[in-house]
Amino acid sequence: MTRPRALLLALALCLIPAQIARAVIGGHAVPSGKYPYVAYITIDSAFACTGTLVTPTIVVTAGHCSSITPGMASIPVGQPGQAIDVSVGSNKPGAGQHPGVDHAIVNSNYNILNGDSYDVSLLALASPVNLPTVKVAGRGEESLWKPGTMATIAGFGVTKEGGDPPAVMQEAQVPITTDAYAAGAYGTSFDPTTMLAAGFPKGGVDTCQGDSGGPLLVPAPNGALRLAGDTSWGDGCARPGKPGVYGRLGDSTLREWIRANAPGAVAPDGAAWFTVPERDSVVRVTAGGDISYVTLESQSLPRGLAIDAQGRVWVTTMGFARLDLGS
Ligand code: ARG
Repeated sequence: MTRPRALLLALALCLIPAQIARAVIGGHAVPSGKYPYVAYITIDSAFACTGTLVTPTIVVTAGHCSSITPGMASIPVGQPGQAIDVSVGSNKPGAGQHPGVDHAIVNSNYNILNGDSYDVSLLALASPVNLPTVKVAGRGEESLWKPGTMATIAGFGVTKEGGDPPAVMQEAQVPITTDAYAAGAYGTSFDPTTMLAAGFPKGGVDTCQGDSGGPLLVPAPNGALRLAGDTSWGDGCARPGKPGVYGRLGDSTLREWIRANAPGAVAPDGAAWFTVPERDSVVRVTAGGDISYVTLESQSLPRGLAIDAQGRVWVTTMGFARLDLGS
């Protein structure tokens, strides 16, 4: 069997440009237009939280952000939206579009009396916004937010504990921790079903007050980003050994709740697993649409991979491989 010579599609193992962010706490100002989907949220006209536009009519934020009175014990009733205002499309607090909030949908398992698990809510906008959105990491995309991944945090929150909110949205990068590390830091307060932690062991970079509900973004193939978490809580901010805790939006429990309440908010299923039956097998790529990139991760490190004009993937190693397809 002859292997095709021409590699018709680029094999992109590391297409994602590294975003260097030294400097949210330890961050730096977000340039105008960079994250148009990051929302500034006020409750009763006072700055309260950050959020993320995931469809033209839905902003994801924290459960504790949709209570009428933040900081007070709240029960998960979908609060009327009138007291909540959202602005999107600007890196300046309160600037940009104000679509209005029709109602909030708070995860029914969220109850601050039970701790901070299930800390997610959806703000249903009164009118659709014509801006780019970012999608919640889909089923099969779990590897995008695995421990060690450098995630981008962004928000309008304070730049130091007890400080004032900044004049411009801030962003920074923090590594996603293992669940064991987060449990070591927080004990049973850390719920690995609905929480995800991120931060450097030495601290210094973190979300803080006002960033709640805002995005923890991870790179996806082809330069896209996915929403893997929403800022939730931490012991202080940016303290050593105390990572920031985020709603685990890309995992099944919260992701499927979001999908059920906001169709279109979740990225399509991301990956296909296949078994390479023998050397020089041909694997038919069956993802819908035009495939413009392929990444391959494998336990057996296949050396040869090529895609021919018929969309067949040629491999030269036996074993299991994970094939991520994107268009
Ligand atoms: N609960 C805070 C808020 O309402 C967010 C705190 C995040 N803390 C942290 N150390 N990452 O804005």
